[in-house]
Amino acid sequence: MKRFRLFFILFVVSVLFTGEVCAKEKIIRVLSIGNSFSEDAVCQNLHELAAAEGQECIIANMYIGGCSLERHLNNARKDLKAYIYQKIGLNGVRCQTNNMTLSNALKDEPWDYISLQQASGFSGIYDSYTPFLPELIHYIKTFISPKTKLIWHQTWAYAEGANHIDFKKYDRSQMKMYESIIDASGRAVKDYGFSFIIPSGTAIQNARTTFIGDNMNRDGFHLNLVYGRYTAACTWFEAIFGKSVVGNTYAPKNMHPALVKATQEAAHQAVLNPYQITNLNVIKPTVKLYTDPSVPLDIRVEDLLSRMTVKEKVIQLNQYTLGTNDIENNKGVKVKNIPAEIGSLIYFGTEPELRNQMQHHAMENSRLGIPILFGYDAIHGFRTIFPIPLAQACSWNPELVEQGCRITAQETKQSGVDWTFSPMIDVSRDPRWGRVAEGYGEDPYANGIFGQAAVRGYQGKKLDDSLSIAACLKHYVGYGASEAGRDYVYTEISRQTLWDTYLPPYEMSLCSGAASLMSSFNNISGIPGSANHYTLTEVLRNKWGFRGLVVSDWGAVLQLINQGMAKDLKEAGKFALNAGVDIDMMSHSYDKYLKELVEEKEVELTVLDESVRRLLRLKFQLGLFEKPYTPKTEVSARFRRAASLQVAEELSAQSMVLLKNDGTLPLHTVKRLAVIGPMANNDHDMLGCWWGHGEDKDIHKLLDGITDEFKKSEIRYAKGCDFLGEDESGFKEALHVAKWADVVVMCMGEKGNWSGENNSHADITLPQIQQRLMQKIHAIGKKVILVLANGRPLVLGSAVDMSNAILEMWQPGTDGASAVAGILSGRINPSGKLAMTFPYSQGQIPIYYNRRSSARSNQGFYKDATSEPLYSFGHGLNYTHYCYGELSASKTTLRKGEKVKVSVSVSNDGEQDGMETVFLYVSDPYSCIARPVKELKRFDKRMIRKGETENFEFILDVNRDLGFVDDQGNLFVEAGEVKICIGDKKLSLEIK
Ligand code: NOJ
Repeated sequence: MKRFRLFFILFVVSVLFTGEVCAKEKIIRVLSIGNSFSEDAVCQNLHELAAAEGQECIIANMYIGGCSLERHLNNARKDLKAYIYQKIGLNGVRCQTNNMTLSNALKDEPWDYISLQQASGFSGIYDSYTPFLPELIHYIKTFISPKTKLIWHQTWAYAEGANHIDFKKYDRSQMKMYESIIDASGRAVKDYGFSFIIPSGTAIQNARTTFIGDNMNRDGFHLNLVYGRYTAACTWFEAIFGKSVVGNTYAPKNMHPALVKATQEAAHQAVLNPYQITNLNVIKPTVKLYTDPSVPLDIRVEDLLSRMTVKEKVIQLNQYTLGTNDIENNKGVKVKNIPAEIGSLIYFGTEPELRNQMQHHAMENSRLGIPILFGYDAIHGFRTIFPIPLAQACSWNPELVEQGCRITAQETKQSGVDWTFSPMIDVSRDPRWGRVAEGYGEDPYANGIFGQAAVRGYQGKKLDDSLSIAACLKHYVGYGASEAGRDYVYTEISRQTLWDTYLPPYEMSLCSGAASLMSSFNNISGIPGSANHYTLTEVLRNKWGFRGLVVSDWGAVLQLINQGMAKDLKEAGKFALNAGVDIDMMSHSYDKYLKELVEEKEVELTVLDESVRRLLRLKFQLGLFEKPYTPKTEVSARFRRAASLQVAEELSAQSMVLLKNDGTLPLHTVKRLAVIGPMANNDHDMLGCWWGHGEDKDIHKLLDGITDEFKKSEIRYAKGCDFLGEDESGFKEALHVAKWADVVVMCMGEKGNWSGENNSHADITLPQIQQRLMQKIHAIGKKVILVLANGRPLVLGSAVDMSNAILEMWQPGTDGASAVAGILSGRINPSGKLAMTFPYSQGQIPIYYNRRSSARSNQGFYKDATSEPLYSFGHGLNYTHYCYGELSASKTTLRKGEKVKVSVSVSNDGEQDGMETVFLYVSDPYSCIARPVKELKRFDKRMIRKGETENFEFILDVNRDLGFVDDQGNLFVEAGEVKICIGDKKLSLEIK
């Protein structure tokens, strides 16, 4: 009896003791049998939300991507090791077990709650639950205690416009999907006796009605990683732990308090009313979050967007002009009564006053106070004009190009412009096309590298920096392939060439964070660039993930009619917007017809919203909401600062290419120097095309530069002739001066406005009048140095033989004259190399270095002329001598995904310090898609002092640099030989 009493006492004590333990916060154990939707909901945040309330828990998810109830049942029946078991234990310790079976997971812990859910695409279809749920529930119950509660996880509807294939089941309607989910989940809970529902679907829908909008997803169906996942976890927390989540102190790092509040509230309301259908747009936010700079950018955008009417959205997507401009192709006439809601203006002013005046109108007279984005073509400078971009590429010095663009950004921004329509990165192989002047030549890689440099220069480290402007890559895409070198015309580009040649510079430059892109005029094999869904959406958005802004070129939307695509302006607008053109520059299609198109459902509201979103994003990024006005800066502090001029001069010097030299240059000593030609004493034509707000009075003329340089020489000048025409009246004086001189510098070439937009030339030879003058002077027998100013490679004909030396100075901008003089005198060792081939004759065009191999390498040449160019890509002489050593590689047998280092030493064994550019080319002799004979993959320019050696090292990525793309942009790496070539040295590598 005593023993019995003792047992009884022990029993009571132990029961009391256990009871006391239970009275403390119990550890809650939750197992979710689901997929990535349950992973989104339970694997992050839930544990932390519980911990913030002192609640210990163990949470696990049984994961198979997209797993349906049917598959779960099948796994159960066969006890398949099919799951990834993600478990968060006490104290948040995480572990993962692969190849887990359902039975083992069910036995792993004494679970308090086990959730089930349907695969997202089927979650609104009740008939997809019924064949599987009874058996699955029965199976689960064989492993668990009767105390374990089975619960149902209600998943969420896809985002409007999501591209998930299962969205079709709901006619691609979010509301339809959501309502089906509510219905199906409610029935499941009732019919199968689930203890309760976790209404994540309703929580997400609630959150969508706040300022967050339909922005809860990362890909249209999975939740946004931060606040999307948090919303679902909040719902789980409140439903399981029975405590209101509102005010819970845990939130992910960097989650804005406004987001925390809105999402906690959305979850709380969902748990209170799990089946109450929440419609979008029923709740309007009261606080103007978009005006608060501390709110995350995307949320500001969504908040503002949710407040805008369709009319306001539509007017945002237009660009008009402000001020006047008489450039023939882009005439800016004064627009009267510009609406305060206008999205963007091209600003032709040089002072910020007019901009500020207009901005006040927008900020004060529009309902929402959205600032205007001001754009302008600062192509190679604003007031300090740098060499034309084609020349800049010949410098092979991206850092210097970046510095030039930084200066342009400073001058531009302080003058009232936020956005430049530059850089142009159109690969150009036809010098008849005048716009070759505006880009970086014929090579895709070079265009990409200089595009990146320009973006870095314009945009700086941050777009909202007071000296940064947004860049615009143009003209997307293939504009440089204009047939026969004519502007605005058709381009025949195969998909392979699109991917090989025209797209790479864009892909590269986007990696530098370019804020915007301009859609092109040209018709790409039948579909114009500004209505091309493939390039603008499938490639740019879907493949590359570009979130920035796309503006059409000037009138490009309207021109879809001329191009035989759209029947009228309304249809043109429809094509453009649906293809992916966000802003209509000067076509007045969007402002006239977009609202109608949206009402008629020819343009989906979601598409309109997406374009507005991109524009607003850029405005926020530029800080325009906080600083809409441009402060006044004195002209002397703004333009042509001493440091800026130094960069301009250096960039001019490094851009110039010594094409020929028989030893006449440098002119160390010369007594009598004649300076002859239409370019010699010319100012304006030094600027080239697109001279921004460059002023003639700032220009350093060649004659002045040469006079300053050759102080000890006597210098005489004669114009001789004009650029064009038949007037030979100046010949006599020119011959007289030439006879007097020891050396004659002939300054010839093209007028500045012969290249650039709408300046195609069928004849790119040196004009006859200039050739005749050269012949006459050559006949005298004096040494002739030809200094060329031109915006494109020229066909030089007999001028080559008539010159002892030829210096290509291009159009060097405001500050190039002393660089020319310095190269003539030898003070500067020329270092430029051609970024575009000079044809020998016009009939050779197009001629470029990276062509594909011919079927008969020893035949097919022209019968009447050489097939070789006059000066090919990469050509450029100097005053010293470089000796290239043998190439070496860190390994010669390579595997996919590896990197290899290729090195070469270059010695300067000549008489002068010099800057040498080393080019590394790759060729792939045999591949399933024939590759160009060689392709530039790297370059590096460095100073090599006289008598010294520099070691150049290049790291190549086997996939990126030795692989190639197919006509869909898929990267290939093929086994076999690839050749590396630097200078005249070669090396073979083997890919295994
Ligand atoms: C037309 C030109 O093609 C483009 O390059 C330029 O940016 C726009 N006009 C705006 O001036």
